[in-house]
Amino acid sequence: MTRLDDLPYPILVTPEVPTEAANFVRESGYARSIVLCDAKVAPRARAIARAIGKQTSVLSFSLGERRKTLRTVERVLEALAEQKVERTTLLVGVGGGVATDLFGFAGATYMRGVPFVAIATSLVAMVDAAIGGKTGVDLRAGKNLAGAFKDPVAVFCDVAALATLPPRAMREGLAEVVKHGIIEGDETFAELEELAAQPLQKWPWEKVIADSLRVKAMVVADDRLERGAREVLNLGHTFGHAIERASGYRVSHGSAVAIGLRAAGLLALRTGRFSESEHLRVLSLLALLRLPLIVPFDRVDAVLRAMSVDKKARDGKLRFVMPRKIGDVEYGVTAPLPSVRAVLKRIRETPGAAEFRR
Ligand SMILES: NC(=O)c1ccc[n+]([C@@H]2O[C@H](COP(=O)([O-])OP(=O)(O)OC[C@H]3O[C@@H](n4cnc5c(N)ncnc54)[C@H](O)[C@@H]3O)[C@@H](O)[C@H]2O)c1
Ligand SMILES: [Zn+2]
Repeated sequence: MTRLDDLPYPILVTPEVPTEAANFVRESGYARSIVLCDAKVAPRARAIARAIGKQTSVLSFSLGERRKTLRTVERVLEALAEQKVERTTLLVGVGGGVATDLFGFAGATYMRGVPFVAIATSLVAMVDAAIGGKTGVDLRAGKNLAGAFKDPVAVFCDVAALATLPPRAMREGLAEVVKHGIIEGDETFAELEELAAQPLQKWPWEKVIADSLRVKAMVVADDRLERGAREVLNLGHTFGHAIERASGYRVSHGSAVAIGLRAAGLLALRTGRFSESEHLRVLSLLALLRLPLIVPFDRVDAVLRAMSVDKKARDGKLRFVMPRKIGDVEYGVTAPLPSVRAVLKRIRETPGAAEFRR
């Protein structure tokens, strides 16, 4: 087990979640707990509940991004009321990022807030969604528009649960792992380069996850309420979100972030901030991990439009997060529109010699 204490609550990365979670509940002295889970991980949630003991039941919900809504939150809250959950009852939310966001939000609102433990079962949830205290759901107007900051009392990353995670969901998380590697640099990035040639089943996941989530945890620890520094975590996301939106969400978040990391590197390269060799290292890592590098549609203007409505566009100027070096990422950097346009054209094509033309 690896334990991180960078935030006000412990983050535990372990293949033995049922035992460790049960120990935590016992040691924390909660008289009663209730396990909420994404139906896809119900067997895992039941094993966790069994380990915790008699005073625990499991409530399972069909989730998925389309059900990440206030309606589902209402169903969860009504179910909690039916179970006569009290202020002092511990909620244990088990699942991917949708589950940790949604159950965390339910934990923030039920009786104005009850203690919540997040048990992350997807790579995205482990290295990103469950870390940092942001919870919430989607509205028709956009993703994650309703929510609350809610610190959990603990986060568990269920390394063993990765065995059943669909490859598609795994790739979603890898894009964020690469992002964290670029922010952190040094051994964290080099280790990914070393592992990239090996099949994912052979990766030392406990270490990879701990190293990756530590990057987010440390950034968040410096900027809990998002006043500025957290912005580095948006590396690849200004382009990424715009690509997702312009594709009508046909390009997944992880794929869009991978393409966005290429785009941020290109923009940094073309505005004289990043070196060719480091850009090439990022491209090679993304490619080895079979993450996409090319936008699969031809709508530069739609991406540009989506980008200028992005919340990062203050006073009409586009601001970007860009690498200066692997391990040194700047935020709030404005870039000239022609360079942004050139980047958007370039990411329509396979990387080649033109990648490095200024
Ligand atoms: N709060 C934050 O700071 C933050 C950060 C990043 C992402 N998010 C949110 O996270 C969500 C994406 O997370 P995600 O990719 O985990 O999505 P998800 O929760 O929908 O999980 C992906 C798929 O894998 C299934 N699944 C999860 N764990 C499994 C396991 N161990 N075995 C088998 N199937 C499993 C889920 O049922 C789902 O079908 C988005 O809604 C996003 O907004 C939040
Ligand atoms: Zn992301």
